[in-house]
Amino acid sequence: MVGSGIAGLCAALDAAPRARVALLTKGSLDDGCSRWAQGGIAAALGDDDSSEQHYQDTVAAGRGLCHPEAVRVLVEEGPARIRQLVDWGVGFDTQDGRLLLAREAAHSRARVVHARGDGTGLEVETALIARLRKTDVTVVEHAHVDRLLVDAMGRCAGVDWWDVARGVEHRFTAPAVLLATGGAARLWPNSTNPASATGDGVALAFAVGAEVAGMEFVQFHPTALAVEGAPRFLISEAMRGEGAVVVNASGRRFLFDADSRGELAGRDVVSRAIWDELRDSGSSQVYLDCSRVDSVSTRFPAIHRMCAEHGIDIARELVPIAPAAHYVIGGVRSDLCGATSVAGLYACGEVASSGVHGANRLASNSLLESLVFGHRAAVSALHDTAEAPRTTVAEPVLDVAAGTDDADAWQRMSAALWEGAGIVRSASGLQQALDVCREAAVAGAATRSGRRLEAAATTASLVCEAALRREETRGCHIRSDHPRSSDEWHGDLVMHSHRGAQLDHHI
Ligand code: SIN
Repeated sequence: MVGSGIAGLCAALDAAPRARVALLTKGSLDDGCSRWAQGGIAAALGDDDSSEQHYQDTVAAGRGLCHPEAVRVLVEEGPARIRQLVDWGVGFDTQDGRLLLAREAAHSRARVVHARGDGTGLEVETALIARLRKTDVTVVEHAHVDRLLVDAMGRCAGVDWWDVARGVEHRFTAPAVLLATGGAARLWPNSTNPASATGDGVALAFAVGAEVAGMEFVQFHPTALAVEGAPRFLISEAMRGEGAVVVNASGRRFLFDADSRGELAGRDVVSRAIWDELRDSGSSQVYLDCSRVDSVSTRFPAIHRMCAEHGIDIARELVPIAPAAHYVIGGVRSDLCGATSVAGLYACGEVASSGVHGANRLASNSLLESLVFGHRAAVSALHDTAEAPRTTVAEPVLDVAAGTDDADAWQRMSAALWEGAGIVRSASGLQQALDVCREAAVAGAATRSGRRLEAAATTASLVCEAALRREETRGCHIRSDHPRSSDEWHGDLVMHSHRGAQLDHHI
């Protein structure tokens, strides 16, 4: 198991009773990206809701590219996974013994369960880690996976990993490897993600010939805190669901110019409308007015605290906001069981491209995907490896002093991504960004200490290349030089290290 976000933790817990499991994480167990999730987990649990309705909302958001069978699995198995979390000790917010359900943008019902107000990821991770500590899963922290091992039959057979603290490389052999390494949105300079979200998993899988799909679809969250010197802290979409409104510097609610749903339009629409407003006004932020949200400081305690640290009282003052990179929809292509195109290699959570999000992810469907497909991937990996040999730990195979990354190359790549592969893209900007990312990959490959850079730059290059190829605007992929969607592009752009890129048409 590689990665300790909610997908990796759930998969490890599901596999632990029946297999010997090692979980490697590149930081400490408790600093995965899922911990930062605020809004919650979407599932059809309300009396007025149904999995059919959740299905319809998800495919409408996905702009024609969702895989219907994957979405069916997501929405139909979601409620059982939420109940499993409750059994595992997750304390979701309740009223009179019933789960509280929030409304978020582009959902036609209130269906988002949450915890600690806006601390859903933190609550879920804390409960899962406590449970994991009681199992005999071997947890290896500060372990950076350098490469996946593939045997003579082309089957994934383990990993080589770098012990960051001791500067030593080790090898784990295993009958199956499950990637749950999260996303890559931290590669953009304005990002809601933690420093760990640099896309290692996609690069690892691509290097051993796994298919990668949908990399052009990068979701920009419309409302991140925009205060100079402050991190682009997420201001949850749930706030708009509870009545917060977006206004420009003149106090006008301009989102209705783009969509009659205003603040509750899809994330792609809202981000684009804010981007247009910023461009037209020359300003670097618009504002969220939270004064209509009931008990805003107790409903959203983490946002309240973070804004207060930057001198903003969300109950009374406008919160400066701007879009920021938030979620990479594309990833390692995986089937309904989390299997990738490489035997023995599984992927789940943000690193995977399971087909549930299409061209634009519906809010709070990502933790749900981690739960549902983390479980499925664990079950199928167990099945697949029932007869295979046990995991063994070999002696270190390499011993090299750790160095430092090339900070300039990271920065150049990051700036190029924001300029060229940001919210609105064009062929020339994407080509420039691609050139910078490819240079960074070459620079990273030259040294042992540059391997993180090489992996990040490989993933970033795949984003730029896919975005360059997809000559249309669809969902969160917006091309100023191809402003409309085209039937010609109605399919998944699949990339492979030897076969190149091809469009897999949807029927
Ligand atoms: C949010 O709370 O706005 C983020 C939810 C998500 O990305 O699904």
